[in-house]
This record gives sequence, C-alpha cells and structure tokens, in this order.
Amino acid sequence: MRTIEVNLDKDPYKVLYSDIQQGIQTIQPESIDGRKVAIISDDHAANNNLDGLRKALSSYDIKIIEIILSPGEKNKELMVAENIIDKLLSNKFERGDLIIGLGGGVIGDLSGFVAGIIHRGVKFINIPTTLLAQVDSSIGGKTGVNSQYGKNLIGCFKQPELVICDINSLSTLPKRDLLAGYAELIKHALIGDAELFSYLQNNIKNIFNDYTILQEVIHRSALVKADIVMEDTHEKNIRAQLNLGHTYGHAIESFYKYDGRILHGEAISIGIIMAFKTSLRLGLCKADHLHLVEDHFNNIGLLTDLKSLNGKKILPEKIIDLMRSDKKVTNGSINLVLPREIGRVEIRNDVNENVIQDVLHETLHL
Ligand SMILES: NC(=O)c1ccc[n+]([C@@H]2O[C@H](COP(=O)([O-])OP(=O)(O)OC[C@H]3O[C@@H](n4cnc5c(N)ncnc54)[C@H](O)[C@@H]3O)[C@@H](O)[C@H]2O)c1
Repeated sequence: MRTIEVNLDKDPYKVLYSDIQQGIQTIQPESIDGRKVAIISDDHAANNNLDGLRKALSSYDIKIIEIILSPGEKNKELMVAENIIDKLLSNKFERGDLIIGLGGGVIGDLSGFVAGIIHRGVKFINIPTTLLAQVDSSIGGKTGVNSQYGKNLIGCFKQPELVICDINSLSTLPKRDLLAGYAELIKHALIGDAELFSYLQNNIKNIFNDYTILQEVIHRSALVKADIVMEDTHEKNIRAQLNLGHTYGHAIESFYKYDGRILHGEAISIGIIMAFKTSLRLGLCKADHLHLVEDHFNNIGLLTDLKSLNGKKILPEKIIDLMRSDKKVTNGSINLVLPREIGRVEIRNDVNENVIQDVLHETLHL
C-alpha cells in the first residue's frame, strides 16, 4: 500500500492510498471497540462511499452516529459546526470517541474543526473523496469555517490520526470538481516540483482517464504539501508558500459569497494566473513561465480569468478590500506568494497596490 508518513514532532500520521476497506482495516480494534464513531459527510460523498465505509466498520464493536449534510461551501459555518456538536453531545459523545470525515474539503475542514474543539479535541480520521481534498486539504491539519468577513477566519489546527485516499471515490466526481482539485494539485508543482509540472505537461491528455497516472500525480503533489507541512506545521514561514493563488482567489470567492458560482479551486486557478501576472509586472518571473502555465491551464480546462462567469460584475476596489481582510494580511500589508519560475515561489508583502489594481483590470478585462 502506497503511503505518505507525515512525521510531525507532535501527532504524526499516515496518508494511505488504498480502498476504504483496506484503509479502515489498519485501525486497531482495541483503539475504537466500545466507542462511538461519528461519520460526518454530505449527500454526494455519502451516496457514493457511505455503504463501503459502513461495511468496513462493521467488524468493530462500535456505535455509529451518521450526520449527513447537504453539499456546499455554505456548510463551513460556525452555526453548522455548533449543530453538529449539539447532536454529538446529545448522543453522549465522549473524549475518547472518534470522528470520521467522509467527503471533500468542505467536510474535511468542518469535521476536523468539530474534532478539534469538541471536548478540546477527539480522534479524527479523514477520508477525502474529492481530488482537492486528496492532494491538499486532508493533509496539514488546518481546519475551520468561514466568517462574513472572509474565508477560513475561524478555525484551529487539528491533525488527523489517519487519512485514507481511495482513488476509486473520484470516479463519481463531476468534471468541474475534478478540475477545481487539479488547480491545487498543479499549485504544488508550481511551488516546489518543476518535474511534476513537466510530467503533467507530458501526460495532459490522460491525467483524468488513466488512474495510474492520476494516482501518481496525486501522490507526488501530496508529497510537496506533506514536506512543507513537516517543515513548518503552524505556518510560521515557508508553509505560507502553499497560499499561491490564494490571496487573489479567496477575495474572488468571498466576493461571490460562496454561492456556488465559483468553486474554491476555480478561484485558485484564476488566482495562480494573477500571481504569475503580478510577478511578471515586478520582473520576478519571465513571460515564458506565465505563458507555459496559462497554456497548460487553458488546455486542461482550468479557468484563467473571470470572463466565463456571468452575473454580478466584479469590482476591483471591492476585491482589493477583501484582499486586505484576508487572514494572510500582516500589519495591514497584503501578502502575496509570487512565482520566480516554475517550481519556485517567494512570499512578498511589499507589492504596491497599483500593481494589484493593474493585474485585476487585466484579468477582469475591464
Ligand atoms: N484545510 C486545508 O488545508 C484546505 C486546503 C485547500 C482547500 N480547503 C478547503 O476545501 C474546500 C473545497 O474542497 P472541495 O473542492 O473538495 O469541495 P467540496 O467539499 O464542496 O466538494 C465538492 C463537491 O463534490 C461533492 N463530492 C464529494 N465527494 C464526492 C464523490 N466521491 N463523488 C461525487 N461528488 C462528490 C461534494 O458534495 C461537493 O458537491 C474549500 O472550503 C477550501 O477552503 C482547505
């Protein structure tokens, strides 16, 4: 079984690449027998994976509590977390019990957050069922919910005990969500693995229909994330590199109020291109780099600008305002992760807002 060991000083864990059954079988019965196990999921993830998970858990002596939400980013709300906690406490959920998150990044962030705060922390297993969650959000222990003031502003670090990535769960994922996940997958190549970017370029036609290739690139992308998280678990310095595309992306997402018109990964793919355009304007990267990445994004079907989004007209001033309230702001300066070349980025907090304005106008075609 392919594995990534996330060797943190405190709370190390494994990411297993296996089917759910095999992954669950690695849990020692004595660690959960006699306990309650809460499964938190959403309709889509549960429709396709819950039966398999129930079957895998059937050999343990446990009481299962199922909490199945309707899908969507709107679940990342303090009120939803509170309702879940109330339901668990009313079922006498205890400190030694276990929460399993079964779903995409929304379910992972929400259920990890609940696991981090109920009884000041209970055991947590993450079973990511979207591409985005398998390459990114299930690793690293960042959990949380959104606020009316911005994305992920309320949360805590809560490392899982185990992550089980079953590639078969991706077979039911809509193409739009696959592509949204691909934005985070390629982000890791652009931050720290130029060879992975070349591999993606060479296999661009088969990434989504050849599961051997898909498994390979998920694993390599997740390795970049795991390596960074092991070096800087609490984002004191280099972990911030993982925010490539996120300062612009979060502001765009927030502008659309998480109503489904733009997915997180879509906002990030546009944000990555905006980060390259910012770098280019500052002379930090070459035009060739931007064009290579932009061509790759266009060829695979990732968004590179906001042209295709109809409806509410996006206002650059509002986006800058939202960028200022992102949690990546320090002492009022907007932090941006800027590419130097493919596979290397740097963090800057001194970018003149006129440059950001220019990039916004260019990307928004104003
Ligand atoms: N914690 C982190 O480090 C981190 C990193 C990146 C992103 N995130 C967060 O992740 C979230 C986005 O995650 P996402 O893209 O997975 O979104 P998501 O969880 O909303 O899932 C996308 C869609 O896929 C559906 N789905 C899930 N599994 C499925 C399956 N197997 N088959 C069919 N449909 C399925 C969901 O119901 C949903 O409709 C954002 O909130 C973002 O902030 C967190």
